[in-house]
Amino acid sequence: MNDGDFAARAFGYMERFPSCRLLVVGDLMLDEYVWGNVRRISPEAPVPVVAVTRDTRVLGGAGNVAVNISALGAKVAVAGLIGGDPSGRAILRMLKGRRIGVAGVVTDRNRPTTTKTRVIAHSQQVVRVDREKKEPPDARAGDALRKCVRAAAGEVDGVVLSDYRKGALSRALVEDVVLAAKRSGAFVVADPKESDFSFYRGCTVITPNKSETEAALGGRELADDVGIMEGGKALLRKSGAKAILITRGEEGMSLIERGRKAFFHIPAQARQVFDVTGAGDTVIGTLAVGMGAGAPLRDAALLSNIAAGVVVGEVGTVPITIEKLAGALRLRKAIHPSG
Ligand SMILES: Nc1ncnc2c1ncn2[C@@H]1O[C@H](COP(=O)(O)OP(=O)(O)OP(=O)(O)O)[C@@H](O)[C@H]1O
Ligand SMILES: [Mg+2]
Repeated sequence: MNDGDFAARAFGYMERFPSCRLLVVGDLMLDEYVWGNVRRISPEAPVPVVAVTRDTRVLGGAGNVAVNISALGAKVAVAGLIGGDPSGRAILRMLKGRRIGVAGVVTDRNRPTTTKTRVIAHSQQVVRVDREKKEPPDARAGDALRKCVRAAAGEVDGVVLSDYRKGALSRALVEDVVLAAKRSGAFVVADPKESDFSFYRGCTVITPNKSETEAALGGRELADDVGIMEGGKALLRKSGAKAILITRGEEGMSLIERGRKAFFHIPAQARQVFDVTGAGDTVIGTLAVGMGAGAPLRDAALLSNIAAGVVVGEVGTVPITIEKLAGALRLRKAIHPSG
């Protein structure tokens, strides 16, 4: 493919990002960081005492996918679960602050908001404290979530399922999304955690990473290109999807499409890698915005790989933005000035 031509097409898609409307359905999470110093060992137990200097919080999971989409300039709403606690209220506040729609955020008073708290002293993680309940929501919250999703899924260009197996996504909810999307002509892309891919039946594209792909294949290792192709084909059959986009960390990503004999491989972009957390959220968010802007699947995948290359070169979980994506495209065009 002519790279210069791709850059020109990409700028065309980017002009249409603002008119793209997406819904993210999945597991909302809060990532908390407690920063401090250690000067002594506790007299109570052989553990360090951390004197806290500051706290920071960022949206994780489905919330982070929505943040990426919003920062690309597209319109986005989320649907998922929070508990009736301060973490849940923080998630709502942070979503609203980024103009992400929250009509589909349902409070289940019988569960804690999924929260991961890291205590960091002198740049070292001391401990991580998780609050979560992975079970499905109570009946009232579950019904409310299905109702919100059914109403919203028919009114967008595409739906993103952000599954972290924390209880928001059930088979019934995925079926609702697929049905509503089919009726309205919207696409559905899924970032999977469940290893039984029949769970995502009817989705348009599924984006497992390497270990999720191997788990979905019953533990079979993706040793070489033949393994990728055959594994991808098996998952296409299992899910009925149009394509499987396997993200392969420093090896980039491979797109296996229904009806094509060879897969489309995209090498990783990053020059320097600082922090790969959240790269998967950037991939699925950018893929969805690209598809919503009318890009063919291969171009949307190319865009998502460029976006992931940008965010892994930054410290912390940072979203891609339209400006950063444009900058990376200009740089590519300068390196490959073929069009
Ligand atoms: N070490 C790396 N070097 C270059 N690019 C990388 C690296 N790690 C990730 N990427 C980019 O990010 C994309 C997604 O990464 P990966 O396959 O690790 O997803 P993931 O495991 O779902 O990520 P996470 O769960 O941490 O968000 C890759 O396809 C690639 O473009
Ligand atoms: Mg992931």
